Amino acid sequence: MSQMLTITRPDDWHLHLRDVNDGRLQTVVNDTAKVMGRAIVMPNLKPAIVTVAQASSYRDRILSLLPAGSKFEPLMTLYLTDKTSPSEIKLAKESGFVKAVKYYPAGATTNSEDGVTDIKKVYPALEEMQSLGIPLLVHGEVVDPSVDVFDREAVFIDRVLQPLILDLSEMKVVVEHVTTREAVQFVIDASDNIGATITVQHLLYNRNAMLVGGIRPHFYCLPVLKRDIHQEALIAAATSGNKKFFLGSDSAPHFLTLKENSCGCAGCYTAMAAIELYATAFEKAGAIDKLEGFASFYGADFYGLPRNTDKITLERSATPRQLPRSIPCGRDNFIVPFPQETDIYWKLVG
Ligand code: NCD
Ligand code: ZN
Repeated sequence: MSQMLTITRPDDWHLHLRDVNDGRLQTVVNDTAKVMGRAIVMPNLKPAIVTVAQASSYRDRILSLLPAGSKFEPLMTLYLTDKTSPSEIKLAKESGFVKAVKYYPAGATTNSEDGVTDIKKVYPALEEMQSLGIPLLVHGEVVDPSVDVFDREAVFIDRVLQPLILDLSEMKVVVEHVTTREAVQFVIDASDNIGATITVQHLLYNRNAMLVGGIRPHFYCLPVLKRDIHQEALIAAATSGNKKFFLGSDSAPHFLTLKENSCGCAGCYTAMAAIELYATAFEKAGAIDKLEGFASFYGADFYGLPRNTDKITLERSATPRQLPRSIPCGRDNFIVPFPQETDIYWKLVG
């Protein structure tokens, strides 16, 4: 007999929707809106979403592609640059639809060229965010070329994040896509205005999946998968019931030719089956009962938004399925849903 799991509709607190120009926006909107109530929409487009006016027209493009009757709500973000002004932050608050500001250290990841070169330069904007209660969403990796790529998150915590939260102790901060036990510990020890998102790829895998038996570019994302002790710390945090940790898929689609490439780009497209994959990870940890808090409650609570009230149902079947090898997207392009090899027992049925 199959097992059913009904939970409050989840939200995705870290999502890359992309844009209309190459067809990806429609694909991701379809996959997301069928299950997520809301999503925090990342601003790392080209050009980046740095003003409220840009966020507004991007939001309109998203809404225009929603399936009829969909109640999905995109929660917009601004991309913090060295030039972001306190007055733009005020406009963000007034807009009602901009819910957070994203901090990419310049050069840390995909489309981060316009990011912050020195955190001190953005203190006026951060002080305004602190006083208005707008969360800062942090891509927590240093870009110092002398720091090993596997250590960039831990070093960022020491060099940038610790001093930042001492200076701006009331600011709401989400440490996005935590990948190390150092980051987990930092968040646990910090005050209640510090939270964190956890992706499903970091719960399901460690770096062996990416590097043993050949280089598997679809496992490559930033921050990069770490060793198993870190994966274990992330699983423990996600399944602990600690309200500081919540679902942020960081689903980030790239075209097949750019992933399967001599210089493959960073990002995993998990939106096609995000909640089913998280259910798989929680079940493996023997903690399926903790999925609802992580996926549907704690993120909304952190952002001060109401929890969703409707439900979704997942069915666990005896026979697993795998995601398709690729899906067509836009003209002559394909996206590879991640992860290919994983047996998925859960399926969204309502
Ligand atoms: C993201 C992307 O492709 O936009 N890539 C990734 O590996 N996670 C950017 C990001 O969130 O770092
Ligand atoms: Zn991201």
